[in-house]
Amino acid sequence: MTRGSPTSQRAAIDSLIELYASPAATRLYDEYVTELDHALQAAALARADGASDHLVAAALLHDVGHLVGDDNVGLDDELTDDFHHERVGARYLTQSFGPAVTAPVALHVAAKRYLCTVEPAYLAGLSPSSVRSLGLQGGPMSADEVEAFERRPHHEAAVLVRRWDDLAKVAGLAVADFEDYRPLLLGLAAQV
Ligand SMILES: [Fe+2]
Ligand SMILES: [Fe+2]
Repeated sequence: MTRGSPTSQRAAIDSLIELYASPAATRLYDEYVTELDHALQAAALARADGASDHLVAAALLHDVGHLVGDDNVGLDDELTDDFHHERVGARYLTQSFGPAVTAPVALHVAAKRYLCTVEPAYLAGLSPSSVRSLGLQGGPMSADEVEAFERRPHHEAAVLVRRWDDLAKVAGLAVADFEDYRPLLLGLAAQV
């Protein structure tokens, strides 16, 4: 699909919204919430913090790679085989969004590894599923990796997304539904 045509952009956003209405989005993200709950809670946290539209979209869509990667991969499978959902997701999103959305998505796993190194308390506060996946994702960053990460454009945005990601795991929390974000997503897609 080519970027830029309003019709193709609307179709791409429709597909995105359908993805979050599909059975894949009802799979458990972790012990407490589904993929859809997790996405909506992350976006709600970003909004509550007064984040830009780009960052709200990045928070909402940061795990889209779980939905487009392999619909048959469940929680246990993912923990034995890291299929780099952050890259799969960022690549998928390039059809609609620029780097202010896609880069934080691509870097949200690296941001976790980064925070584990630069904030000693961060690792201690990770959820059980995040601790289990950390090893597969490369563990805490080395000093060289920290330096390289801090040179990446949008790395600070990725750290913000990561913090909302970590908090977006509350069972039964009532938040805005996915459709509420359609105007925001269409507005961002129109800028690309
Ligand atoms: Fe993720
Ligand atoms: Fe997440």
